Amino acid sequence: MASFDDLTAPHYTWPLLDSTVRRMVNDQLSRSLSDRDASGIVGEFEEAFRQFVGAQYAVSFSSGTGALHCLAATQIPPGSRVIAPAYTFFATASPFAYEGIDVVFADCDTYGNVTADTIERAYTPDVSAVIITHMWGVPCEMREIVEFCHSKSLLLFEDCSHAHFGSIDGRRVGLHADAAVFSTNQKAITSGEGGILVTNSRRIHDDALLFGHYNKRCYQEVSDSHPGKALALTGYGLKYRMHTLSAALGLSQLAIADEIERRRRLNLSILKESIEPFGILRVIDRVDRGCLHGLYVAGMRFSPEHSRMSRAEFLAEFGRRGGAELDAPGSTKDITAEPLFSSGSPSHPITRRFIHREPLPGVEQFASTFLKLPLWGYPGDEAFVESYAEGLASLSREAWV
Ligand SMILES: Cc1ncc(COP(=O)(O)O)c(C=O)c1O
Repeated sequence: MASFDDLTAPHYTWPLLDSTVRRMVNDQLSRSLSDRDASGIVGEFEEAFRQFVGAQYAVSFSSGTGALHCLAATQIPPGSRVIAPAYTFFATASPFAYEGIDVVFADCDTYGNVTADTIERAYTPDVSAVIITHMWGVPCEMREIVEFCHSKSLLLFEDCSHAHFGSIDGRRVGLHADAAVFSTNQKAITSGEGGILVTNSRRIHDDALLFGHYNKRCYQEVSDSHPGKALALTGYGLKYRMHTLSAALGLSQLAIADEIERRRRLNLSILKESIEPFGILRVIDRVDRGCLHGLYVAGMRFSPEHSRMSRAEFLAEFGRRGGAELDAPGSTKDITAEPLFSSGSPSHPITRRFIHREPLPGVEQFASTFLKLPLWGYPGDEAFVESYAEGLASLSREAWV
């Protein structure tokens, strides 16, 4: 029987820096530390990611936040409104406000996701776009959301930062909207720091190059018919290029994406099977609607009505036993409660752009009962998965009423 005492700390490291990864990053050190066009490792990473998602275009950025900023700056007119999730990481919403766009927050369902209903409740005629996040890896109900956005002629963006391996009806997340963004920070596919924008629209691809890449890439890749082509030298005045060492790391992870997916899916099912008999914790996974989990983390719902302990007590007791990786997330939460989005700072105009009209009962319910664990995913991780699955089952058995 596995126990936390047999494990060496830290219990979770990501990614595994094995000899192949080290060689790929090391080789890049002597090739180039800065790519000015797509002929090197950055272009290779973009092509591999494009194929991974199955999109027509992929443009890399220095972060997911940078890619989101690109969508905000190039796709939506200042003065209009965007609907964003109230429960997400702040960067899903904040770049829009920087571009003079009012952000209206939508509530979430029991999966932590916005829905066509919660989006409709936040809708007013001056809304021109919607951004959704597939929270913690669970795909949103895209069919209804797409239908609603079409009915109102709204642009739709997916924030897929939590859902690299997610799909709906056999189509990868990221293919269900006008454009999508994946952070490649510490995510299921990581490049250390980084982000990538995918789209089937040539115009959005060109906008992304003009926004984040300037000069050589814009001269070489932006269509001659794009109105911004004349600005190719400077692009739109900003620079958000991915580092070549990040691209090398990202490429090393894409090369083993099938293996990461296989291991993470297996780990998700092991955790599910061992904790669910006790009814205190349920792994949040959507198996209806042709959905496949995106495999960022194992998100769990804590049911206080089945437990002698509160969620905080359960978490503290699990930590006391050595289970350091069980977590109630600190930075991904009801972002409308953060000072940036509520009171703001008088010295910073961005904070005047957030509109929080709706009560958010779904967010309150979800955030107050959510816990998460890593999904691990490399050779040698089996002992961690086994220990955490057994540890959670054992504490759930004790706490069960
Ligand atoms: C849902 C979501 N969107 C966007 C981001 C921003 O990505 P990055 O950290 O690469 O800027 C994150 C980062 O954790 C995220 O979780």
